[in-house]
Amino acid sequence: MEDRQLNLINKVAESLVAAKHVVALTGAGISVESGIPPFRGKGGLWEKFDPMEVAHINSFMKNPEKVWRLLISEMKDLLVSAKPNPAHLGLARLEELGILKTVITQNIDGLHQMAGNRDVVEFHGSFAWLQCLDCGCREQTVDIDTSQMPPKCSCGGIYRPECVFFGEMIPPKDLDRSQIAASTCDLMLVVGCSAVVQPAAFMPVIAKQSGATVIEINPEPTPLTGTTSTLLVQGKAGKIMKKITAQVERIIADKQN
Ligand code: APR
Repeated sequence: MEDRQLNLINKVAESLVAAKHVVALTGAGISVESGIPPFRGKGGLWEKFDPMEVAHINSFMKNPEKVWRLLISEMKDLLVSAKPNPAHLGLARLEELGILKTVITQNIDGLHQMAGNRDVVEFHGSFAWLQCLDCGCREQTVDIDTSQMPPKCSCGGIYRPECVFFGEMIPPKDLDRSQIAASTCDLMLVVGCSAVVQPAAFMPVIAKQSGATVIEINPEPTPLTGTTSTLLVQGKAGKIMKKITAQVERIIADKQN
């Protein structure tokens, strides 16, 4: 890792230790090293599928079997087997150290909770649970037999995943919690987000407008870079978060000695 990036990592670690209220916004990029493909960019799902065809609520309601077959059954196998990677574990450690308060995640994979974070807002819902379109009963995705498509409830109704499809509102309680977190933090880490989907991509703008420092971790710049975010640590989240968390631990240990 070259010197410039090491200096950046040390700067981010110092900012994290000095901050009073840190919030993280994460996107699909943080789960790439857990084997879950992103939506955009190299190997992205939206290179294979048209999101309006397979991830819009109208497409789901018109042909639930097609959406289940195309998108969900592919995602289900990945999501059921995925494990947190060092980026998730780094954020969990920052919460354990009392530095990170809330993770706002656009991901539906549950990996932040699996890594140990307790204050997580699932901005786009979760794939862990399904809900019957007819009777509303909920079942855990892992418990559902998906050999029949679309999977059905005992009442005969079709199950839908409890994630937020395009064309749906973000659940008001999650939007409120995210806006409050973004407007009260003094540092926001934006990890693995392409920052092109609203209203999630507006959370860093709220943070910046409220006086917070916004720092990105991403191999690529995004529309936030250089305007809303003041720092971009360019690279893969797993390796970078591991180094940042280790440096935070060193700074804390030095302060205690
Ligand atoms: N580490 C960090 N970032 C990475 C890594 C990695 N190893 N690999 C890729 N990235 C970055 C990409 O550069 C990109 O900026 O992660 C981002 C992934 O972008 P998207 O796939 O668009 O994911 P996301 O920002 O979460 O998309 C937002 O769009 O389709 C909807 O509902 C879907 O929640 C999703 C939303």
